[in-house]
Amino acid sequence: MEQTRARAESPTKFLLDETQLPRRWYNIAPDLPSAPQPVLHPGTGEPVGPDDLAPLFPMELIGQEVSQEPEIAIPDEVLDLYSLWRPTPLYRAHRLEQAVGTRSRIFYKYEGVSPPGSHKPNTAVAQAHYNKKEGRTRLATETGAGQWGSALSFACRLIGLECKVYMVRISYEQKPARRSMIKAWGAEIVPSPSENTESGRAILAEQPDSPGSLGIAISEAVEDAAGREDTAYSLGSVLNHVLLHQTVIGQEALAQMELAGAFPDVVIGCVGGGSNFAGLAFPFLREKIAGREIDVLACEPAACPTLTRGVFAYDFGDTSKLTPLVPMHTLGHDFVPAPIHAGGLRYHGVAPLISQLVRDGLVRAEAYLQNDVFASAVVFAGSEGILPAPEAAHAIHGALQVARSADDEGRERTILFNLSGHGHFDLAAYDNYLAGKLEDVALDEREMSRALDAIEGLPSPA
Ligand SMILES: Cc1ncc(COP(=O)(O)O)c(C=O)c1O
Repeated sequence: MEQTRARAESPTKFLLDETQLPRRWYNIAPDLPSAPQPVLHPGTGEPVGPDDLAPLFPMELIGQEVSQEPEIAIPDEVLDLYSLWRPTPLYRAHRLEQAVGTRSRIFYKYEGVSPPGSHKPNTAVAQAHYNKKEGRTRLATETGAGQWGSALSFACRLIGLECKVYMVRISYEQKPARRSMIKAWGAEIVPSPSENTESGRAILAEQPDSPGSLGIAISEAVEDAAGREDTAYSLGSVLNHVLLHQTVIGQEALAQMELAGAFPDVVIGCVGGGSNFAGLAFPFLREKIAGREIDVLACEPAACPTLTRGVFAYDFGDTSKLTPLVPMHTLGHDFVPAPIHAGGLRYHGVAPLISQLVRDGLVRAEAYLQNDVFASAVVFAGSEGILPAPEAAHAIHGALQVARSADDEGRERTILFNLSGHGHFDLAAYDNYLAGKLEDVALDEREMSRALDAIEGLPSPA
């Protein structure tokens, strides 16, 4: 009886019903304190226009990429598909708080309830929808950990498009079950670098045992899409329109925190290209830009420390220099991160919108070693029960670090983080961690300056 009463006073889950699904995406671009730098054509050095991007993306997404509208309506077909798993739950992590003995309150938004298991379908269904509407019949993409490839093959299957996935070779080998899932939804999948494209063949000729990287897989998918009329390219992160589609996460979380009678002092997400972080954080950053005090923390791996040690520069989004030049924090486009288990965080760049927010001091970043991250993941699994994706475990680790320092200072904080996916396909990583076989890799200074040589001679942002 006592326990039931205590639980009712302090619930564990904060749920919205389908009628409360956000009807609009939030566009942070018009609220940014400084104007974004343009994306440049590498040949001319001039800003790219819609015609440059038309071979790769549908016009509606190109429009969203440069939109200054504060909000964009979500199409009905996308809302219908969202309703398969959205709104997602927000949890109060009572048991985690007890397990680590913190005085802070910890909340998390759980995106692992989507059919593919992460936040990625929030943009996959939107991208598939616009491509279908504008007559494309096939999409080509890359995937790191396999979450994005699963999300796009799921979306293509439900919307009725063909899909080709170039999966970073190291993840292709580490995660055979992700491959099966991608195939079950009907997509074709190959390890990258592959023999299917010129970019892949060139890399294999130089390094036959290349573990691959997102930068390489992007080159392959872009080349595939650029070479076929029926095919568009689809990216799972980094671009403005991708981050835009993810803002359903933060909008729901704002309403759910209100249900909990709380507001976060600290908002945390892990960052690969930046889409789940932006999805949660941007609606809260709107409040911060309007004057509310919130500490916004981006968490990344020490093996690929783009925001904490990279430079803000113009760089290519891919290894073979097929994309436009993007103003972002980068480690250099030919950087191949060590094969850590958070495959989705192994990318040399970060979304320009997030890079700019870091540069403007609205977002801060920290980098963590993978054994520390897995230690936090196991504490989380042992208290909250959910086995997190290694990527998402970076946000858990960030939240626990913040709680620990608040305890040391005698403060009580309200912490909200994004649990971007479950780790049911990452069991080999857990096996390695539990057997003490995970190596801690922090990026070596020499390799970093070698990789940054690749951006010498490219234009500098203002
Ligand atoms: C579960 C999960 N979280 C986070 C990420 C990182 O991507 P992003 O920074 O775009 O959210 C990935 C990428 O594959 C992922 O699978």
